[in-house]
Amino acid sequence: MVIEQSTSGVTRRNFLQAVGAGSSAGVLFATMGALGLAPTASAQPRPESWVPPRTGDFTLTGRSARKVVVVGAGPAGLATAYELQKAGYRVTVLEARHRVGGRTLTIRGGDSETDLDGVTQTARFADGVYLNAGAGRIAQWMVTMDYLRELGVPYEVFTNANADAYLYNERSGATPGNPVRYRTAKADVFGYTSELLYQAADQGALDQRLTDQDKDNLRSFLRSWGSLRSDGTYAGGSNRGYSVYPSAWNEHGTPLPGPGTVSEVLASKVGQYFPFEINWEQSMLMFQPKGGMDTTYRYLVRAIGAQNVHLSSPVTAVENTSRGVRVTYTPRGGRPRQLDADFAVVTAPAGLMRRWDTNWGAEVDTALGEFAVGSPAGKIGLQYRSRFWEDDHRIYGGITETDMDLAHVWYPSYGYGERRGLVVGYYNTGANARTYADLAPREREARAVAQGVKIHGEKYRTELESSFSVAWHKVPYIEGAWAYPDTSSAGFRLLQQGVGQVYFAGDWMSEVSAWQHGAFWSARYAVQALHARVMAN
Ligand code: FAD
Ligand code: ALA
Repeated sequence: MVIEQSTSGVTRRNFLQAVGAGSSAGVLFATMGALGLAPTASAQPRPESWVPPRTGDFTLTGRSARKVVVVGAGPAGLATAYELQKAGYRVTVLEARHRVGGRTLTIRGGDSETDLDGVTQTARFADGVYLNAGAGRIAQWMVTMDYLRELGVPYEVFTNANADAYLYNERSGATPGNPVRYRTAKADVFGYTSELLYQAADQGALDQRLTDQDKDNLRSFLRSWGSLRSDGTYAGGSNRGYSVYPSAWNEHGTPLPGPGTVSEVLASKVGQYFPFEINWEQSMLMFQPKGGMDTTYRYLVRAIGAQNVHLSSPVTAVENTSRGVRVTYTPRGGRPRQLDADFAVVTAPAGLMRRWDTNWGAEVDTALGEFAVGSPAGKIGLQYRSRFWEDDHRIYGGITETDMDLAHVWYPSYGYGERRGLVVGYYNTGANARTYADLAPREREARAVAQGVKIHGEKYRTELESSFSVAWHKVPYIEGAWAYPDTSSAGFRLLQQGVGQVYFAGDWMSEVSAWQHGAFWSARYAVQALHARVMAN
């Protein structure tokens, strides 16, 4: 929903004239700031669709700030509370879990988590070593970056692609037992694809589509992109990499053996991994907060005020009343309590909210059901006593892709030069995530290590110090990694309206589910809708 830049039906210009008459320059300037016309400390270029509520909206119009209960202290809940509170709303955040951040969970030494099966793990990670068990990366264009900057959260590059990381196709590929580096795989796939296109152009197969000039341009591009020889054939070359890199005094380097034949390269199926690098959500540069993804949420809590964020306080009922909304929750070790407020913004996973006592009606309940299925995903953090992937394999960050049940293996984008480090030994989804989730933590570790040894060698086993794994569909109060909603459905539109005094937010209420960006924007839209209601009355 796009909020027009008006305040209770008054245009920005009329409103300024109204308060300007008889007001001091200071009041006028504050008003301009409130309306986004004067520069403020946090002024950043903003998409037109986001007009944050400002304190002036209350002070300058004689309205009293309202009270809002926010359910859930993940990105959507904390951003909601933050934006509302900046404008003067009184907010209380109720979080069921023992910590904030929701699915941006960072595991450090000493952290304990108990899953829905009652299995407890306590991390034995060294100081400075952490696992981002949920969210791990942020694209440059995401609004998440704006929150890092506004809050002053330090951040660094997250290496999402590395030419020297491996591709390992054990099941679908033709080269089991032989991890290939991205740079080599790319050189061969680009090389042979270029050769084939070059020949197609030469043999007239593209004449219906291309002029002679087009064909010249195409050949010239293919020679460079595919490292072709002048006759248009591919025979490998330095872009494949070396087993011994060139140095000095006539040491020209030892090229890697290969390339294989075009059939072998196609059969290896390594090309399937390349689109990731130009994916709109995943392409470099990407970033991470220093010290762990949940750092952002610690900063948000500081901004909101820790006294306004209640942990271990699961909500069990949210009901519209004649005066506003009543939220029932149970603080740890206590009895159920009720909080009355003007509004509630609820950000728990949709499926879990269907278990609450509400008077939202059958239609809303059905709509929530559309967003209820959280997919499984899992990660394991493997702490190693040495950084052999850097020392021996020369891989400094990035991701190795496999067709094994591990799916993705992440090397750390932090702690370079430290003695220890943590590899994400698997990041998998679907059936693979369930396979690992069904195992005890020690068995997950053993399986992940046995698989990883095939790529990295025995040090992957012998250097291991400890591990911690998370199976997202077994995390209490979350029960799934993400839900991809049909954002064109009638149910989605219904939930956007909210119900009575209740608004919905969460990444599942956005166009970019499974990203903090989506959660933040859903929060902004809920805040705007709520604030527009307040301003209209
Ligand atoms: P959540 O983070 O789920 O927060 C909801 C909160 O509601 C939780 O804290 C929960 O405990 C609380 N809650 C639930 N029930 C109740 C109740 N009854 N009472 C009170 N509180 C309740 N995003 C990225 O930006 N980059 C990534 O690289 C990335 N990778 C990811 C990888 C994985 C494995 C996962 C699982 C997620 C990833 N995400 C990533 C997605 C990101 O974590 C989510 O989009 C974001 O956390 C959603 O925020 P949210 O506030 O909507 O929901
Ligand atoms: N947004 C999630 C990730 O990047 C799915 O891993």
